[in-house]
Amino acid sequence: MKTTLSIIKADVGSYCGHQLCHPELMLTARNALQAAKKNGKIIDYYVANCGDDMDLIITSGKGTDNKEVHQLAWDVFTEATKKAKALKLYGAGQDMLSDAFSGNVKGLGPGCAEMEFEERGAEPVVCFLMDKTEPGAFNLPVFRMFADPFSTAGLVIDPNMQGGFTFEVYDVLEHRKVLLKTPEELYSLLALIGAKSRYVIKRVYPGPGNKVPEKEAAAVVSTDKLYQIAGEYVGKDDPVAIVRGQSGLPAVGEIVEPFAFPHLVSGWMRGSHNGPIMPVGMKDAICTRFDGPPRVVALGFQLENGHLVGPMDVFADIAYDRARKEALHIADYMRRHGPFEPHRLSPEDMEYTSLPKVLKKLEARFQKL
Ligand code: F6R
Ligand code: MG
Ligand code: MG
Repeated sequence: MKTTLSIIKADVGSYCGHQLCHPELMLTARNALQAAKKNGKIIDYYVANCGDDMDLIITSGKGTDNKEVHQLAWDVFTEATKKAKALKLYGAGQDMLSDAFSGNVKGLGPGCAEMEFEERGAEPVVCFLMDKTEPGAFNLPVFRMFADPFSTAGLVIDPNMQGGFTFEVYDVLEHRKVLLKTPEELYSLLALIGAKSRYVIKRVYPGPGNKVPEKEAAAVVSTDKLYQIAGEYVGKDDPVAIVRGQSGLPAVGEIVEPFAFPHLVSGWMRGSHNGPIMPVGMKDAICTRFDGPPRVVALGFQLENGHLVGPMDVFADIAYDRARKEALHIADYMRRHGPFEPHRLSPEDMEYTSLPKVLKKLEARFQKL
């Protein structure tokens, strides 16, 4: 039997302000998913959060884009929204951009990363959850996991990986995609994904000669863009990703190695600032200072016929202390720029925030030079 692993996530209300998902919402989700597990609708689940986002990690045997699983997630978020409204939480129902469910959460507000595969003898997976940033924040680390031999030693040492990997890249502006094979097309890949607000890695597939079938994704990232759905700024598209590891794929240690470098991502306050992404354990997945700095959590599981064995809270490890310190140092440095670029995003990226409304007011006062 093939296992389907899904992360479906939404911000349906938080406290105080945009900082943290409320425990009552998580409880609502756990109760609903427990009932679904009991009546056999899903195999297993884990409810987590990163900052104000609630992340439903669900396993089933039903394939990706399955109506029942998506309906379940939608119902959980609807129920949690009711709770959030009752508690007068901030941004109650924020990511529920549609009133009606139409078979798939795609395009309705919640973000989604899913994959289906034949479980190997042992199947380690890492679920990454981010807050206060956008899907392109995964470009750099996912590139390094699967294509940078200075980060992933297996690219040099493991014969399984000598065939490289294939990257599926979405152009989120033009709604098109392209497949690029590494190491052959490494430079072309970087030419695209270095522009992280437009080109985002959606999936990575094993190359020829790998033990893992070429058709089975080794990594998948949520690429849902709220702005494009809502037509106006409704917060950043805090992304999630799933990465499978070991035995021909990057080792779990290689999957999490790129996060020892707190790279700059777009998001943070008002989705309008560049800042470092800080790898944290679950207890520190709270976006406080200037609504940030952006966070990433890594939950490691072994799959047992669809059951989630874990999680292991990877970034709780002291080995990430220095990355956190560096992130805080970079946060201080970036903050000192105040409203100036490159702390503030470039004009193209600011188009997707509330700034254009401010600029519009000045339009009539400009005189020709
Ligand atoms: C960023 C985010 C927050 C809000 C900020 C202003 O993704 O969610 O930084 O943008 O707190 O929120 P409003 O406009 O709701 O007052
Ligand atoms: Mg929020
Ligand atoms: Mg969020």
